[in-house]
Amino acid sequence: MRRIDRIVILTGAGISAESGLGTFRDEGGLWAQHRIEDVATPEAFVRNPDLVHRFYNARRVQAAEAQPNPAHHALARLQADFPGDVLLVTQNVDGLHEKAGVRAIHMHGELSRALCAACEHRWDAPPEMSVGEPCPACDKPTARPDIVWFGEIPYHMEEIIEALQTCDLFAAIGTSGQVYPAAGFVEEARMSGAATVEMNLRDSDMSYAFEEHIVGPASKTVPAWVDRLLA
Ligand code: APR
Repeated sequence: MRRIDRIVILTGAGISAESGLGTFRDEGGLWAQHRIEDVATPEAFVRNPDLVHRFYNARRVQAAEAQPNPAHHALARLQADFPGDVLLVTQNVDGLHEKAGVRAIHMHGELSRALCAACEHRWDAPPEMSVGEPCPACDKPTARPDIVWFGEIPYHMEEIIEALQTCDLFAAIGTSGQVYPAAGFVEEARMSGAATVEMNLRDSDMSYAFEEHIVGPASKTVPAWVDRLLA
């Protein structure tokens, strides 16, 4: 068996489901309640910034109140105790990995941050953002949530692709495999010869690409998987 020195982990909304945060595409998920084109595109923000702010304000409050679950804590244990590299890439914007003590790359941004649409300055978002808020750097009224919307390019792609090309093990946890580029990470890792494992409640759109499947709630499967890696 290949020796494992470098691990890349991709997490999605499913890892935070047991912390009480709804996913996007499960039954009754966020995208069943809101239209993506109304709240999660740059065009939506131009058309109705108030609606977009209200959507993210509500999510910011929920995320601030949520607590990490055993899956987040297990990944913190892995990052602290694994003798090799553990890079955690998350599509989540909720901040629960950080609350558990994990260093994560936020490829889709963070609810806790604000971004100036004019000068790209970033700062800590207030609990409630509102239309016309000035940027602390350039003073233009162009503050927006620091969230990567549909049609925008995810953050840190160069670093992520490089890590995928050199990892020995790639794991995807609680993600439906419907949104690129994250959905393609498994194939990138496989091309570099990495072992691949998917942890999900059910099959995802990308399940066929993974060698190993661990089915069940992340709060149970992730701690058991981490125990196995650290044994
Ligand atoms: N344990 C493990 N997996 C779970 C759990 C759980 N307790 N609950 C749900 N899941 C799985 C679902 O089966 C599903 O495959 O989590 C996945 C959630 O999928 P999505 O709602 O599509 O979330 P995600 O994959 O993170 O979405 C990707 O889409 O809209 C965008 O930007 C948003 O980052 C997000 C991206």
